[in-house]
Amino acid sequence: MTTPAAVIPPQRVKDCARKHAYDFEAVRQDFPILRQIVHGRPLVYLDNAATAQKPRCVIEAERRLYEEYYANIHRGVHDLSMKCTEAYDAAREKVRRRLNAAQAEEIVFVRGATEAVNLVAGSYGRSRVGQDDEILISALEHHSNIVPWQMLCEEKGARLRVIPMFETGELDLDALDALLGPRTRLLAITHVSNALGTVIPVREIVARAHARNVPVLVDGAQAVPHAMIDVRDIGCDFYVFSGHKAYGPSGIGALYGRRELLEAMPPYQGGGNMILSVTFEKTIYNEVPYRFEAGTPNIAGAIALGAALDYVESLGLDRIIRHEDDLMSYATDSLSSVPDLRIVGTAREKIGVISFVLEDIHPHDIGTILDHEGVAIRSGHHCAQPVMQRLGLTATARASFGLYNTREDVDALVGGIQKVIEVFA
Ligand code: ALA
Repeated sequence: MTTPAAVIPPQRVKDCARKHAYDFEAVRQDFPILRQIVHGRPLVYLDNAATAQKPRCVIEAERRLYEEYYANIHRGVHDLSMKCTEAYDAAREKVRRRLNAAQAEEIVFVRGATEAVNLVAGSYGRSRVGQDDEILISALEHHSNIVPWQMLCEEKGARLRVIPMFETGELDLDALDALLGPRTRLLAITHVSNALGTVIPVREIVARAHARNVPVLVDGAQAVPHAMIDVRDIGCDFYVFSGHKAYGPSGIGALYGRRELLEAMPPYQGGGNMILSVTFEKTIYNEVPYRFEAGTPNIAGAIALGAALDYVESLGLDRIIRHEDDLMSYATDSLSSVPDLRIVGTAREKIGVISFVLEDIHPHDIGTILDHEGVAIRSGHHCAQPVMQRLGLTATARASFGLYNTREDVDALVGGIQKVIEVFA
């Protein structure tokens, strides 16, 4: 595999290496969509947990690829194919660096966190889970970290077990050791709850699971945009995330897997690129990570995801974290002062997300009226119906933050909520 520095087209490096102190006007200028007017109001985008907006350098990375050096990868000996392959492999190296994985070979490009979980369930899970075995998840999971395990359990006659949660949105970790039994084959757990924002102490959980020889998959879809991730420090066996929540394009994401596990896993899909040789009698599979990347991948997505990671690095993740911390405190205080508003999920450690309900007003009505004020939030079950059921709700309204949001955005949200209250008064 090629390594990055020399191979990234120079213009792209320049675009993404713009260093500005955390100056909001400059940062917001990088995101063309933030200039949109919605229903006659300037857009206030607070739906970042669903998907984040894209800086110009990400949009440009795709445009430049298609205009200047697009070709298929790992196949051609011609100039464009080689340039494109180098850029794709460089993107893999950027993901490795972002997760602090030991080797780029431990990074598999996939469509997103959902496909990554399905890959592990379909490959690792199918080869290691049998009748009466158990998969352990938590009560806070997104459907994408529930359904693939349920499907596996149904196929194998295995059992899904669940770490319970408190009303606060924190997990009952006292229950963990009893749930980690001799038949537990894998623990799959979110790093940050998409519905409530709870940060899960994954490092401690991994240590406890490993003490019982149980491997751990961490769903980092809501963590990667907001936190430093170090898969070696966490100690997990698999880590998954989606590019589109981390300022990259949709349809691209990554699976980190410890090399020895990936090497022992059977392929997930068959096709081109994942083979070394094929005869009608026998196919020899390629090395990792290519073994798990059958067919022509999302080349543009991977390269543009690399540009998104560069962009975040150029702003400084530590500064983004400090800024978002401030925003979460400010938003929590501001929303707490609204009469009849209840914040759902009061964990001590939260990032990125504040879910709330208003007495007697359906979250969809909140979302619709806020939209008319130019404020975009999500309302619904957030693809986490078991979380809602546990809390006795069918839905919440959810504001979620990104690196470009400001205290003024929070003020606009609170102003919009006052309008909602007036409409229903
Ligand atoms: N998983 C995404 C969300 O939380 C779509 O909104």
